Amino acid sequence: MVRFIHASLLAVGFTQLSQAATNSTINSQLRLAYAGDTGMYVSWNTFEKLDNPTVHYGLVSNDLNMTASSNVSVTYATSLTYNNHVKISTGGQPEAFSVAVVVDLGTMGAQGLTTYAGTGVSVNNTLTPGEINTIQSLDNFKSGFDFLWHPGDLAYADYWLKEKIQGFLPNTTTAEGYHVYESILNDFYDELSPVTAVKPYMVGPGNHEANCDNGGYADKTNNITYNVSICVPGQTNFTGHRNHFRMPSAESGGTGNSWYSFNHGMTHFGQVDTETDLGHGFIAPDEPGGVEGEDGGPFNTTLEAQTEWLEADLAGVNRTETPWVIVAGHRPWYLSHANASGTICWTCKDVFEPLYIKYGVDLVLSGHAHVYERQNPLANGVIDSAGLNNPEAPWYITNGAAGHYDGLDALQYPLQDYSRFGLDTLNRTFGWSRLTFHNHTHLTHEFVASKTGEVLDLATLYKART
Ligand SMILES: *[C@@H]1O[C@H](CO)[C@@H](O)[C@H](O)[C@H]1NC(C)=O
Ligand SMILES: *[C@@H]1O[C@H](CO)[C@@H](O)[C@H](O)[C@H]1NC(C)=O
Ligand SMILES: *[C@@H]1O[C@H](CO)[C@@H](O)[C@H](O)[C@H]1NC(C)=O
Ligand SMILES: *[C@@H]1O[C@H](CO)[C@@H](O)[C@H](O)[C@H]1NC(C)=O
Ligand SMILES: *[C@@H]1O[C@H](CO)[C@@H](O)[C@H](O)[C@H]1NC(C)=O
Ligand SMILES: *[C@@H]1O[C@H](CO)[C@@H](O)[C@H](O)[C@H]1NC(C)=O
Ligand SMILES: *[C@@H]1O[C@H](CO)[C@@H](O)[C@H](O)[C@H]1NC(C)=O
Ligand SMILES: *[C@@H]1O[C@H](CO)[C@@H](O)[C@H](O)[C@H]1NC(C)=O
Ligand SMILES: *[C@@H]1O[C@H](CO)[C@@H](O)[C@H](O)[C@H]1NC(C)=O
Ligand SMILES: *[C@@H]1O[C@H](CO)[C@@H](O)[C@H](O)[C@H]1NC(C)=O
Ligand SMILES: *[C@@H]1O[C@H](CO)[C@@H](O)[C@H](O)[C@H]1NC(C)=O
Ligand SMILES: *[C@@H]1O[C@H](CO)[C@@H](O)[C@H](O)[C@H]1NC(C)=O
Repeated sequence: MVRFIHASLLAVGFTQLSQAATNSTINSQLRLAYAGDTGMYVSWNTFEKLDNPTVHYGLVSNDLNMTASSNVSVTYATSLTYNNHVKISTGGQPEAFSVAVVVDLGTMGAQGLTTYAGTGVSVNNTLTPGEINTIQSLDNFKSGFDFLWHPGDLAYADYWLKEKIQGFLPNTTTAEGYHVYESILNDFYDELSPVTAVKPYMVGPGNHEANCDNGGYADKTNNITYNVSICVPGQTNFTGHRNHFRMPSAESGGTGNSWYSFNHGMTHFGQVDTETDLGHGFIAPDEPGGVEGEDGGPFNTTLEAQTEWLEADLAGVNRTETPWVIVAGHRPWYLSHANASGTICWTCKDVFEPLYIKYGVDLVLSGHAHVYERQNPLANGVIDSAGLNNPEAPWYITNGAAGHYDGLDALQYPLQDYSRFGLDTLNRTFGWSRLTFHNHTHLTHEFVASKTGEVLDLATLYKART
């Protein structure tokens, strides 16, 4: 069973990495990720390059009788560490299971979300003293989910400039920014490692992975435009994200950590990239010339590669073996958002929605907007009259309410007619999503409030499987 292997890996990780862990500036950032149906990546960071990164593992923690190694110990300009990646073999699949999903989760504490913030940040967008944050909540509930999925916006290291300008990082100069950026990344990976060391951590790209200063040449919040990018090599073009993780794209025909898929139990999970490589004549939001000014990507040699992959991937799913098909991409298109023009990705809709409809995707997840909104199943903007009772159209849920420096956004009231439940800055509640696959016909989504562990919204999708 996969779970035994996770448990033993924890022991392995701490044994193997004790040397790195004694260095007080960083711990090992131990993290797991699925690598196809019978494999798993074990990744960790060290201050020195390793010639032969090695993992000992086994079915029980006191008998680590298997070994795997690699030659993958990679870094990039400005990084403070090396990223080591080793693939191991696993086996077995559970029956009913749950998955935790977060989007837009930043570092917590002095460099991110805490009980105070810089100038101009609403008090509703900070933590109250003693409040359990989303990272702590995930840790508290980790025995109840098989893996953690994070479709974009990790750490918010690129907020360092905004935080500095707002007086939140008082002693930082712009010249030191590259170091603060890496330090926020390391903080985040360290904070999350109690979860990622024992549960696979599957990630996708968001706009905050693209470069170092949230907008390339602009600090939009403070209306400051730089005429040249202040990002140094190593902090552009998703470089940290590309080095830090190994997602199963080789195993699924995808591309890097940008788009890929994997099966777990009765479910096929697909991660798509809304930031680059949309093709179809569109300049994606984070590509050179795109609306965000992030100047990243593209990541494949042809701009149509992602949708060609997605179509082949969805067409290839055996719905007898994995009846559930869930896809996540960072940006939403169905949302009641107060700043719709800056948040909704209509080109993403044009590119992805036809394939989701054609191949009967059950659920589409996104974030990007720092709100929670559950929609009715929808196709081409039209409400599926079946609701959650065996709809044909994909179901849509946006949950970008995990929390980061400066918190939550506002929904647009009245909510869209397809909306079924919403939470925003007025509710002052950070949270994450829990998906439970009961069997081939029933899937439950819950919004879990991080501060209380309470489920504020629960809905179950029924699909008749023929
Ligand atoms: C941690 O390792 C880095 C890189 O080797 C080194 O610069 C730093 O001084 C070390 N810190 C401690 C507390 O040993
Ligand atoms: C490792 O030990 C487990 C029992 O803990 C056993 O099932 C497995 O076959 C062993 N593997 C090898 C390669 O010896
Ligand atoms: C790393 O190992 C792979 C196969 O395991 C090999 O193809 C590749 O050449 C090696 N790379 C280096 C830099 O040694
Ligand atoms: C910033 O620097 C000043 C002067 O050295 C010091 O008094 C203050 O404590 C520092 N603030 C922080 C948050 O480090
Ligand atoms: C932003 O700054 C520019 C020039 O510095 C100015 O023209 C513009 O009105 C400012 N916008 C806002 C919203 O303050
Ligand atoms: C960029 O701004 C600096 C400082 O204001 C100025 O010296 C430089 O000429 C500008 N460069 C361009 C290409 O506008
Ligand atoms: C580009 O996508 C194809 C499949 O569409 C994949 O086989 C190939 O490895 C990808 N290229 C890169 C550079 O990842
Ligand atoms: C980003 O990296 C990819 C992969 O190395 C490369 O093909 C692309 O040209 C880079 N984009 C920019 C803007 O440098
Ligand atoms: C789908 O999976 C079922 C059950 O394992 C198998 O019987 C069937 O042959 C598979 N279909 C295809 C097209 O591979
Ligand atoms: C904070 O939320 C409360 C409702 O909980 C609302 O009355 C207040 O206006 C909000 N403040 C801001 C600045 O949004
Ligand atoms: C969220 O806040 C709004 C505005 O204060 C309120 O009407 C609504 O009932 C709140 N939702 C929940 C679930 O508490
Ligand atoms: C599937 O799970 C749901 C929810 O637990 C349950 O109501 C239903 O009876 C189950 N169906 C089968 C065939 O076991």
